[in-house]
Amino acid sequence: MVVQGAGTFLLQRIYTCDKYEKMAGNKWDDHFTRRAREEKWRARSVYKLEEIDRKFHLIRRGDRILDLGCSPGSWSQYALKKVGPGGRVSGLDLTRPADFPSKNFSFIHGDIFSFDLSDLVQQVGPRNAVISDMAPQTSGIRAADTGRSLELARRALDIAIVLLKGSGNFVCKILEGEDLKPFRNRVGQYFRQVRPFRPAAVRKRSREVYVIGLGYRSK
Ligand SMILES: C[S@@+](CC[C@H](N)C(=O)[O-])C[C@H]1O[C@@H](n2cnc3c(N)ncnc32)[C@H](O)[C@@H]1O
Repeated sequence: MVVQGAGTFLLQRIYTCDKYEKMAGNKWDDHFTRRAREEKWRARSVYKLEEIDRKFHLIRRGDRILDLGCSPGSWSQYALKKVGPGGRVSGLDLTRPADFPSKNFSFIHGDIFSFDLSDLVQQVGPRNAVISDMAPQTSGIRAADTGRSLELARRALDIAIVLLKGSGNFVCKILEGEDLKPFRNRVGQYFRQVRPFRPAAVRKRSREVYVIGLGYRSK
C-alpha cells in the first residue's frame, strides 16, 4: 500500500469517468462539464456529490473522510473544502490523481480488492464518512457491467462497516439493475436510514444511482 502526502496542485482536463459520459454530448452534459472547468473542479462528478451532500448533509467541518475511487479528484477536492483545515481526506484509486495542494489529503494507491480490511483500518483509521464513486471499465454488456458495479459497491460497504464511527455516513455509486434492491436492503441493515438518489448531474442515459446510508449503527 502506498500512501502519498500533499504536493503541488496541477489542474488537469475535466474528466468524465464513464464511457457513456464520454460519448454523450447534449446541452445539459456540456453545462456541467463547462461549469466544472470554470470553477476549477477536476471532474464534473463533483456536482453529484455536492447535490447529495446538500440534501443529506453527509460531510461536516472537521470530519475524516475516505474517498474510494477518488481519481481524478473532484470528490476529494469538494470534501477537503467541506471538512476545512481540521479535517482529513484519504483517497484510494487504481490511478494516482494529480497532487493536491493540501496537507490534509493522503492517497492510497491500489485495487480496492487487494487490501486486507484490517490493514486498511490500521492505515486509515476511523472515518466519519466513506464515499464511493468507483466505477468499473464498462464493456457495454449490461449484465456484466451491472455485476462489476455491484462487486465494487459491496466492497465499498464492507470497508465502510469496518471504518465508520458511530452515526457515520456512506454514499456509494451502483448501476441500476435487479441487484439494487438487495444491496439497498443490505445497507439498511447497518444504517438508520437508507435512500437511493439520482443527482441531476447524472447523464440521462446512464444507469447510475447512489445509495446513501445515514447514521451508521456501530456495534
Ligand atoms: C467515476 S471515476 C471517480 C471520479 C471521482 N469521484 C472524481 O470526482 O474525480 C471512478 C474511479 O473508480 C476507480 N476504480 C475502479 N475500480 C477500482 C478498483 N477496483 N479499485 C480502486 N479504484 C477503482 C477508477 O480508477 C476511477 O478513477
